[in-house]
Amino acid sequence: MSRENFLIPSAIEAIGSTPLVELSRITKNLDGKILAKLDYLNPGFSKKDRIARQIIEDAEENGELNPGQTVVELTSGNTGTGLAIVCAVKGYPFVAVMSKGNSSERARMMRALGAEVVLVDQLPNSVPGQVSGGDLELVEIKAQKLVKERKAFRADQFQLVGNFRAHYLQTGPEFIKQSKGKIQGFCDFIGTGGTFAGCAAALKEHDPSIKCFIVEPKGTAVLAGKIVTNPNHRIQGGGYSMTDLPYLKTEYVDGFIEISDEEAIKRARQLAQQEGIFAGFSSGANIAAAIQLLKGPLKGKTIATTINDSGLKYLSTDLWE
Ligand SMILES: Cc1ncc(COP(=O)(O)O)c(C=O)c1O
Repeated sequence: MSRENFLIPSAIEAIGSTPLVELSRITKNLDGKILAKLDYLNPGFSKKDRIARQIIEDAEENGELNPGQTVVELTSGNTGTGLAIVCAVKGYPFVAVMSKGNSSERARMMRALGAEVVLVDQLPNSVPGQVSGGDLELVEIKAQKLVKERKAFRADQFQLVGNFRAHYLQTGPEFIKQSKGKIQGFCDFIGTGGTFAGCAAALKEHDPSIKCFIVEPKGTAVLAGKIVTNPNHRIQGGGYSMTDLPYLKTEYVDGFIEISDEEAIKRARQLAQQEGIFAGFSSGANIAAAIQLLKGPLKGKTIATTINDSGLKYLSTDLWE
């Protein structure tokens, strides 16, 4: 649904249908185009609002979530913010379980939206701002405990198909419609893999020749089959060294790209300064990957990617120093 010209009944209906922008300033000296989907314009300032809505509405439909029941989820902040919005509107108490390694803005925003935020200590060797797979395991254990204690519905973004469906039914088809079917490549930084898998499935269904690339942090490229040498990368929202991601099917994947913290930061700053797009580390990683593709296997082509969340979520980090 287009947001224009409609009175909508709640903020939930403002999720999705985000603009697709051609980054012609960043690609000035490159052969090809980058089309960026501005998902930081969702009500919770990230693409994860989409999956929050889909997971809750799927659970309502199939009877797994009852009126007034508590919802619990593990989050790096963005899914939790989306769930806080959807649960606030629909009247479900929401508990977000998050690592202390994620930026503090995220916890404050979820609390502002009425969520209870449970922060979990990082492993002794971990660094704030760098959430490792091990840190995430601790958050998972806490989330499972809370689900039992509160008899809650677990809005499990790593397992529930609503994560895939949100992007298969919305984000992917939006890319096709807004680009008038001109996309030839797609790349995305992987957390749960929901965005990549959902968009890749929709794009390849539309045109099987569209090439889809997984983006991972340099030194944490487990999906590309490499060993982890840098678990404490700075690209928040993914790169958790997890290989067991249920929606990621090999037939969606045409290749893998590794992006360093420095490249992600450089491109996030370039997005802000040249394109007026104020986004976070993982969006910078996506643009860095798209640039690599234009300089390599997809020279001269049109590449789509997502702008995952807002730069406002990183004001406490040195991204904007
Ligand atoms: C900022 C950010 N970027 C990227 C991702 C990865 O998206 P996905 O889980 O769909 O792979 C997330 C997921 O939480 C995120 O919060």
